[in-house]
Amino acid sequence: MKTPPPPPSSSFSLIRKARLSPYFFTILAFMAFVAVLYGEDFFSQQLQQSPHNDQPISKAVKKRERLPFAIGESEGRCDVFSGRWVRDEARPLYEESDCPYIQPQLTCQKHGRPDKEYQYWRWQPHACSLASFNATLMLETLRGKRMMFVGDSLNRGQFVSMVCLLHSIIPENAKSMETFDSLTVFRAKDYNATIEFYWAPFLLESNSDNAVTHRISDRIVREGSIDKHGENWKGVDIMVFNTYLWWMTGLKMKILRGPGSFNDEVKDVVEPSTEDAYRMAMRSMLKWAKKNMDLKKARVFFTSMSPSHGKSIDWGGEPGRNCYNETTMIEDPTYWGSDCRKSVMQVIGEVFGESEIPITFLNITQLSSYRRDAHTSIYKKQWTPLTPEQLANPSSYADCVHWCLPGLQDTWNELLFTKLFYP
Ligand SMILES: *[C@@H]1O[C@H](CO)[C@@H](O)[C@H](O)[C@H]1NC(C)=O
Ligand SMILES: *[C@@H]1O[C@H](CO)[C@@H](O)[C@H](O)[C@H]1NC(C)=O
Ligand SMILES: *[C@@H]1O[C@H](CO)[C@@H](O)[C@H](O)[C@H]1NC(C)=O
Ligand SMILES: *[C@@H]1O[C@H](CO)[C@@H](O)[C@H](O)[C@H]1NC(C)=O
Repeated sequence: MKTPPPPPSSSFSLIRKARLSPYFFTILAFMAFVAVLYGEDFFSQQLQQSPHNDQPISKAVKKRERLPFAIGESEGRCDVFSGRWVRDEARPLYEESDCPYIQPQLTCQKHGRPDKEYQYWRWQPHACSLASFNATLMLETLRGKRMMFVGDSLNRGQFVSMVCLLHSIIPENAKSMETFDSLTVFRAKDYNATIEFYWAPFLLESNSDNAVTHRISDRIVREGSIDKHGENWKGVDIMVFNTYLWWMTGLKMKILRGPGSFNDEVKDVVEPSTEDAYRMAMRSMLKWAKKNMDLKKARVFFTSMSPSHGKSIDWGGEPGRNCYNETTMIEDPTYWGSDCRKSVMQVIGEVFGESEIPITFLNITQLSSYRRDAHTSIYKKQWTPLTPEQLANPSSYADCVHWCLPGLQDTWNELLFTKLFYP
């Protein structure tokens, strides 16, 4: 995994394409000479500009171009998302009590979770191994840089996991965490580095954008409004987007057109299918990144849907139950829960398939869907007192959406780490 990739070299396809030209080898020799003088950039530029190729050669060249932050390639194009969970006594990567940044909705041990089994699992891809998370390398890489997670509370969990994975090597007085409305910033002062989270559950502007009070059932998203939040994402070096759960309001999604307010009595609202609305947001996200990020120096990641475990009948459990009291994972390798829409995954695949920019996809859905044991369940801070009825039936208030930390989301960051350095 750590062996550096061969240098980008597309001269073979060039030779095949241009073999009819008698002057070709003279030109090639000259180009090689110039390339030695000016570095290999000259070569890839010449190839991309070559007007005589009927093949979309720039795409091929792009593929071989080294992504920013890469220090190696994954073994034989290994699919790191295809694998299995193995028990590992060397886990967790940090202790819950050693990370003061975990919000009380995710500190399961503190809130009385009786078992710790969910902390001892490591993701093992079938065809290779994940690079082990190296906090020093990560922080050195972030020196003078900004990493930002943008999306919903699940992305916030991944952000906090990243902070927990890094903070122990930073002295007490050299780090801070502050929140300004939608933006939370963790700062490593000696590194001049920040890791940030920005609340934008739809990425686009919506009526659920208030960072504190956003429990709105009649959700509306404004078409073409990515710049509203995007203004606050400029200058980020490593961007990690997610969005999914908030779109799940049914089969359709309300989209507001034009400049009117979400609260106007009369407004121009259309209701496309959830998939079409989601596709529109994904395309906006890519367009934003293309326009506002320098992708020669910066990277964009997208984390797929985080599965929930709200219906135990999905895995053959008793009806009316959920993740509550589950301490083991689902063994069926083909398991896919009913609350993860395959049609949305398909949209992600389509949109990224036609993407003009390199986007690194963290396909965490399948590997997380086995983890019915890893949710916060009832072991979290409750904001309102529980009723006697709720207390009598813990399943009724179990949170089967969010994940305990340390836990599953540390694995998402190990995958992010692997894809950042060994794409
Ligand atoms: C972690 O990364 C640092 C900085 O690149 C390196 O010096 C160190 O050897 C790495 N540690 C391990 C265990 O690989
Ligand atoms: C600190 O990092 C920011 C980017 O986050 C950069 O613009 C700035 O120049 C850096 N400052 C120093 C003193 O290196
Ligand atoms: C929780 O599960 C265990 C077995 O895994 C079972 O013995 C126990 O009765 C369950 N508790 C509740 C409240 O369902
Ligand atoms: C993500 O992984 C799942 C399971 O391996 C697969 O079915 C799905 O097609 C993948 N999604 C994309 C967009 O590649």
